Amino acid sequence: MPFKPTESQTVIPRHVAIIMDGNGRWAKKRGLPRTAGHREGAKVLRRIIRDLDSFGVEYATFYTFSTENWKRSDEEVSALMKLLEDNLDDLVNYKDENIRLRFIGGRERLSEVLREKMANAEKNSLDHTGMTVTLAINYGGRDDILRAAKKSAQLIKEGYLSEESLTEDVFESLLMTEEIPPVDLMIRTGGELRISNFLIWQISYAELYFTDTLWCDFSKKDLEKAIAEFSSRNRRFGDAK
Ligand code: IPE
Ligand code: IPE
Ligand code: MG
Repeated sequence: MPFKPTESQTVIPRHVAIIMDGNGRWAKKRGLPRTAGHREGAKVLRRIIRDLDSFGVEYATFYTFSTENWKRSDEEVSALMKLLEDNLDDLVNYKDENIRLRFIGGRERLSEVLREKMANAEKNSLDHTGMTVTLAINYGGRDDILRAAKKSAQLIKEGYLSEESLTEDVFESLLMTEEIPPVDLMIRTGGELRISNFLIWQISYAELYFTDTLWCDFSKKDLEKAIAEFSSRNRRFGDAK
């Protein structure tokens, strides 16, 4: 079930999802190649993870590379993949910060090196008890839902599941986000007012927050503003309160 606040002061979202957009424009403004923006964006990611943790957020999910981002030039795609391969352990300091690191998205198209690093990071942080950080790499919301639909069809075919017992909760558990609760607050930086195929099932009752600030310029203050805005919203979940 979605997180429902009971506190009267600032309500901290349990699960924050972030579409980190605007790296290319940040670099362009400075006369730098787009990849310089991605490098800067990686630094911001690391900082914001710490800030989210300090606010008491339990789950943070970041859009790192979408199923549509393969359309970009070979040069940009390779630079992004290399950035992940070379800096995965640095990007999220899961070892020192007790963070549980996991990944969503299809892994088949990723390099062997990257896949191995991802599997290791997940294994090494499995028993960490701090915030759960999920990086979405080659992730698409439609792909996520389609794969869950195929899995449920297979389970029904094999007799492990009946059509009647396929509830929303069961289907949700077949999504890549598995045991991660639904998104409470979705933030998109970079000024675009769209979801771009991020967690489309999981944001059904999320509060949406859009800011013109480019990801590379996104600071703890901006995060605070987003959380304050979230805290002031009245989440009705269809009720008539
Ligand atoms: C977001 O920044 C990072 C990725 C999509 C990988 P962009 O690269 O989309 O930057 P803009 O939107 O072109 O400025
Ligand atoms: C969304 O940003 C994907 C990531 C931030 C990883 P895009 O820049 O790819 O989205 P569009 O193309 O503007 O919708
Ligand atoms: Mg973009």
